[in-house]
Amino acid sequence: MPYTVIIGLQWGDEGKGKIVDAITPAFDWVVRFQGGANAGHTVLVNGKKHIFHLLPSGILREGVRCGIGAGVVVDPQVLQDEARAVEAEGISLRGRFFVDARAHLVLPHHRYEDHFEEEKGRGVGSTRRGIGPAYRDRSARMGIPLRTLFERPEKRDRLLERFFEWNEAILAARYGKPPIPREKVVEDLLRFRDWVAPYVADVAFLTQKAHEEGGQILLEGAQGAGLDLAFGTYPYVTSSHTIAGGATVGLGVAPRAITRVIGVMKAYTTRVGKGPFPTEVRDERAGLLRERGGEYGSTTGRPRRCGWLDLPMLRYMVRLNGATEIALTKLDVLAGMGEVPVGVAWKVGQERYEWPPLGMIPLEEVTVEYETWPVPEDLDRADRSPYVLRLEEALGVPVRWVSVGQAREALLERARG
Ligand code: GDP
Ligand code: IMO
Ligand code: MG
Repeated sequence: MPYTVIIGLQWGDEGKGKIVDAITPAFDWVVRFQGGANAGHTVLVNGKKHIFHLLPSGILREGVRCGIGAGVVVDPQVLQDEARAVEAEGISLRGRFFVDARAHLVLPHHRYEDHFEEEKGRGVGSTRRGIGPAYRDRSARMGIPLRTLFERPEKRDRLLERFFEWNEAILAARYGKPPIPREKVVEDLLRFRDWVAPYVADVAFLTQKAHEEGGQILLEGAQGAGLDLAFGTYPYVTSSHTIAGGATVGLGVAPRAITRVIGVMKAYTTRVGKGPFPTEVRDERAGLLRERGGEYGSTTGRPRRCGWLDLPMLRYMVRLNGATEIALTKLDVLAGMGEVPVGVAWKVGQERYEWPPLGMIPLEEVTVEYETWPVPEDLDRADRSPYVLRLEEALGVPVRWVSVGQAREALLERARG
């Protein structure tokens, strides 16, 4: 039985949470493999809105196991708050939720640094969740994986001291900030350790076993391919590998075991934070998309930048991720607009690209060639509308789901091609 990866094909907030929740009943496990509490995945069930930053969006389906993989950076407070909120609704996590002992912790030093860097106006417009500094420390071998909390006290304290020295030096040198009291940080961490203990596991191992026994495993990506550390619009990216390939190292799964890749995309484009955005709309229609689509950040509340569909960017991302099927969301937001522009090619100087070599393109210099596409009026039949058929043809990948509203039920599934 194969592993399935689901990722965002744009710059995040494509509606991954909604699609994951909707398809979870077909799986035995749903696991996050990268990112941290910078993610905000919205699931609307029975009129109640849940926003998950760390818990997989399958968590509301009680028969399914959920995991946080080794590639995720975990903010202890966010995880506890989120788990408690879910349990307060009568949904049990014991025995069905697991976090990999290798996942790194996001500590207050990381959040402060991220915050100060943004305050100085030098950041990339991050979510201020400490993601960049936490992944930096992991790569620099200065970070604190969850398992450190369960080491012998002498070893644990030695590793924490090393972490504190390093981060205090950074906060002092770059931001002139005094040290964060170590005792308080340690106290909070030990309290977190006691709470998290029953959930800590080797999630790679558990899911490998489940896979061998015929289980179906869904790997839930966060952010979007345009924000990938290597293949996105660097430096305006996040600090993890958001593309489908990131799932192999983020969970611990052999590449050949992944046979399905679901690419989630909106019927238009949004982006939060700084960075190039070729099809961005700068007139009043951006406000129209933002209001109709409720385009305000799930994590930060920031207004999202809005624009039209960008086929060259999507074609690049469909190939890069090996998308085998597409979930198209928010088509209802366009309904009633008659027809809308769709970016079909990029021009840079004399060159025209439909399938651009993204790594060689100065995105700021791109001019976009548009076509006008009709949008569906009748949402019940939206999955058979020209907008969907033309998209499918342009990308060469079947559109398997068409989402036409926030609620779990507002989803049209098309036959598998
Ligand atoms: P994610 O980060 O990819 O999970 O996406 P977010 O949850 O940050 O943002 C997507 C927003 O669009 C959320 O408020 C969803 O409830 C909402 N949404 C998802 N699908 C649809 C849809 O088909 N139509 C409408 N109108 N809203 C949707
Ligand atoms: P979900 O999973 C949209 C963006 C930030 C910023 C850049 C770096 O909900 O789709 P970071 O805090 O990661 O260091 O910020 O990445 N960003 C997102 N944009 N959706 C997200 O997650 C995002 N997570 C980070 O706005 O531009
Ligand atoms: Mg989001």
